[in-house]
Amino acid sequence: MSIKAEEISALIKKQIENYQTEIEVSDVGTVIQVGDGIARAHGLDQCMSGELVEFSNGVMGLAQNLEENNVGIIILGPYTGIKEGDEVRRTGRIMQVPVGEALVGRVVNSLGQPVDGLGPIETTKTRPIENAAPGVMARKSVHEPLQTGIKAIDALVPIGRGQRELIIGDRQTGKTAVAIDTILNQADQDMICIYVAIGQKESTVRGLVETLRKHGALDYTIVVTAPASSPAPMLYLAPFAGVTMGEEFMYNGKHVLVVYDDLSKQAVAYRELSLLLKRPPGREAYPGDVFYLHSRLLERAAKLNDELGGGSLTALPFIETQAGDISAYIPTNVISITDGQIFLQSDLFFSGVRPAINAGLSVSRVGGSAQTKAMKSVAGTLRLDLASFRELEAFAAFGSDLDKATQAKLNRGARTVEILKQGLHKPLKVEKQVVSLYALTRGHLDSVPVEDITRFEEEMLSWMDSNAKGLLDAIRTTGKLPNEADLNAAIESFKKNFVASK
Ligand SMILES: Nc1ncnc2c1ncn2[C@@H]1O[C@H](COP(=O)(O)OP(=O)(O)OP(=O)(O)O)[C@@H](O)[C@H]1O
Ligand SMILES: [Mg+2]
Repeated sequence: MSIKAEEISALIKKQIENYQTEIEVSDVGTVIQVGDGIARAHGLDQCMSGELVEFSNGVMGLAQNLEENNVGIIILGPYTGIKEGDEVRRTGRIMQVPVGEALVGRVVNSLGQPVDGLGPIETTKTRPIENAAPGVMARKSVHEPLQTGIKAIDALVPIGRGQRELIIGDRQTGKTAVAIDTILNQADQDMICIYVAIGQKESTVRGLVETLRKHGALDYTIVVTAPASSPAPMLYLAPFAGVTMGEEFMYNGKHVLVVYDDLSKQAVAYRELSLLLKRPPGREAYPGDVFYLHSRLLERAAKLNDELGGGSLTALPFIETQAGDISAYIPTNVISITDGQIFLQSDLFFSGVRPAINAGLSVSRVGGSAQTKAMKSVAGTLRLDLASFRELEAFAAFGSDLDKATQAKLNRGARTVEILKQGLHKPLKVEKQVVSLYALTRGHLDSVPVEDITRFEEEMLSWMDSNAKGLLDAIRTTGKLPNEADLNAAIESFKKNFVASK
C-alpha cells in the first residue's frame, strides 16, 4: 500500500490544527502590574468574577475586577514573589474553605489553614465561601433562646437562635468580653461557636484562645483569625470563611453561633482593596457596595424550617464606633441590616457599670419571642424602667425635694443597675438570673443597701443551690415561675440571715 505525500501532509496539518484548538489561550494570562496586594493580568478573557487564579509561584489570587482588557486580582498571600510578565492561570473554581467537625477546637486563618501548630486538619469536605442565603420559605421564625448568660442581655435584649444582633461601642468598652462570656455559656447548650477575629493583635487572639481553652470552651469552638499583620484580602475574607464553616453545621441541623469581631475592620480592609482596584469611592471613601458586603454576609444567618433540619446560625457582628457616634456610615448600615443592637457605652463602663449596656439605645427586635415565660414575667418592663430611671436620675441630681413615688423609683433603679452588673467570665444560668430578677422586681431587695446588692445576690444564689434546689430545677425544666409563695418564702428565709456590711 502506498501513501501519498499530500495525504501525509494533510494529516499532519490536521493534527496541528487540532493541537492548536486544544490549548485554551484564555486560561492563562500574564501579569502586567503588581503591588500593594493587587495584580492586574492580561489575557484571562474567560475569567469569572470571584474565580480563584494561581500565579506561577503557587500563590493564589481572587479575580475581582473584570475589565475590557485586563483583570484586577487580589493576591491571597505574599505578593513580593510575583513579577511583571509572570504567568497566571485560571482554576475554574471559586474559593472554598474546608468545613466539618475536624475544625472544631482549631485556630485557622481565612483560608481554613491551621495556624495553631497542631498539624493538618483531617477533612475532605469544602464549601464555597460565597453562598446564597436561605430564602423565605427555607426559614422559620426565631423561637428558641440563645442564652448568653449575661443578665443584662438575657433580660433586656434577649437573643434568639438564628437572630443577628449587633454589638456596638467604642474601643475598650467590653465588646469582646460579651462575646467570650456568651461562648463560655454555651458549654451545655448543644451549640457550635465560631469566633472570627478580624484585624486584632496576634497576642490578643492568643490570650483569647487560652481563655477559651482554660474554661473548656475550645471543645466546641472554631477560631478564625486574620490578624492585623495579614494583608487586607485576608481581613476581607475572614468573616466569609467563618460563616461558611458555620453553614455546614446549620444545614446538618445543628445550632451555630458566629461572632464577627469586628466588621468595621473588615469594611476598612475592603475599602483598601477597592481603592487599590480603582473602584470609585463613595461616602467616607468606602466603595458603593460596602452595604452589600455586610448584608450578604449577615443574611446567611438563619433559623431553618423543620424540613431542612431546623438548624440555626446566630450572628453577633461587632462594630467599633468613634466617640460613641452610632450614626456614622458603617454603624448605620449594619444597624439597619441586623435585628437589633446592644450599645456599649464608655462612660457607663468607666463608672463601673459592666457590662456597659445602654438600656435606652439597645433593642432586640425578635429575641423577645424566644424568652422563657419565667424570664418574661420578671424582666417585662425592666428595660423601660431602667431607661426612665436614667432620666429621673438626671433630675434628682439637682437635689430638690422628691415625692415618695419618685424616691421609690430611684431606689429601685439604683438596685436594678447594681443587679445587672456582672463580672468577667461569670455567665449565669437562666434559672439563677430569673431568681435574681424576681427578688429585684418583687421588692425583696428594696431594703438591702445598694453597696451590698452584689454580695447579697451571690450569697442568695449559692444558698438557693444548697437549700432550694427544687425551685431552681423547676424554673429550668418548665421555663415557668414556680409557686410564687414558695419562692418568696425561700428568698425571705435567706434574707433573715443576711448580714449587711453597715
Ligand atoms: N464585665 C466586666 N467586668 C470587669 N471587667 C471587664 C468586663 N468586661 C470587660 N472588662 C475588661 O475591660 C477591658 C476591655 O474589654 P474588651 O477587650 O472586651 O473590650 P473591647 O471593647 O473588645 O476592646 P477593643 O476595642 O480593644 O477590642 C478588658 O481588660 C476586660 O477585662
Ligand atoms: Mg475587642
